[in-house]
Amino acid sequence: MGDGLGYLSFRDVSYSVEGRAILERLTVDVELGETLVLLGRSGSGKTTALRLINRLLEPTAGTIFLDGRDTRAMDAIALRRGIGYVIQEFGLLPHWTVEQNVALVPRLLRWPAAKQREKAGELLEQVGLSGGMGARRPHELSGGQRQRVAVARALAAGARLLLFDEPFGALDPVTRHEMQQQFLELRRKYEVAAVFVTHDLLEALTIGTKIAVLDRGKLEALVTPEDFWGVKTPVARAFLETLPKGVKGG
Ligand SMILES: Nc1ncnc2c1ncn2[C@@H]1O[C@H](COP(=O)(O)OP(=O)(O)OP(=O)(O)O)[C@@H](O)[C@H]1O
Ligand SMILES: [Mg+2]
Repeated sequence: MGDGLGYLSFRDVSYSVEGRAILERLTVDVELGETLVLLGRSGSGKTTALRLINRLLEPTAGTIFLDGRDTRAMDAIALRRGIGYVIQEFGLLPHWTVEQNVALVPRLLRWPAAKQREKAGELLEQVGLSGGMGARRPHELSGGQRQRVAVARALAAGARLLLFDEPFGALDPVTRHEMQQQFLELRRKYEVAAVFVTHDLLEALTIGTKIAVLDRGKLEALVTPEDFWGVKTPVARAFLETLPKGVKGG
């Protein structure tokens, strides 16, 4: 784009509550095919940044652009429909089957029923939930499986931007590794842009194409995983200190 905006762009975005800055002048871009990881300690403003993107919160200053458009000028509901938001509670409709949940947006768009089913089936397969899972209700799935449904639902909606708020935090390490690998595969296949919140450095290094380190609402560093080892800023160093000895200094 000639104006230098990425697919998703924060431009000097701030968010304050009663004069207290929670996010301060954040400027960052995410292209399709990229994953921006927001890494920071508890309370550093990671979730706030995600909520600003889908307008659950509005910036008190600055602008967020999606595909070159000021998100403020977009209809909030339509905006959210085009963004996958994967959080620990997932937001699935409890009385609907998995398949119906995945087909939520195609249904709102009044696709023919057969086409809805076909799309849902294809995407459930893609996230590793084939074989009768589509007929279950969300409460009959594990946490990790529900997250996969949320991802499939976003992709069925044609979302090109996916937001993840510590989605794998509660999973056992093996499942977590599987989900990370599956995420990388989906990113390749669908060429989506993603913003991924975590406080796990190894996850950030695995998943991210760039890592934004947040410190009390401010961008402390913005680096590729390869360059993370050389970053000298305090929070980045503190995260590196958490790694087991054998892993450090790679
Ligand atoms: N609605 C609100 N009103 C006032 N303060 C808020 C509000 N929401 C969040 N905060 C504060 O803003 C700061 C950033 O919160 P945020 O949820 O973005 O942090 P986070 O980085 O996601 O933390 P965690 O890793 O614990 O999830 C915190 O100090 C929090 O207490
Ligand atoms: Mg949070």
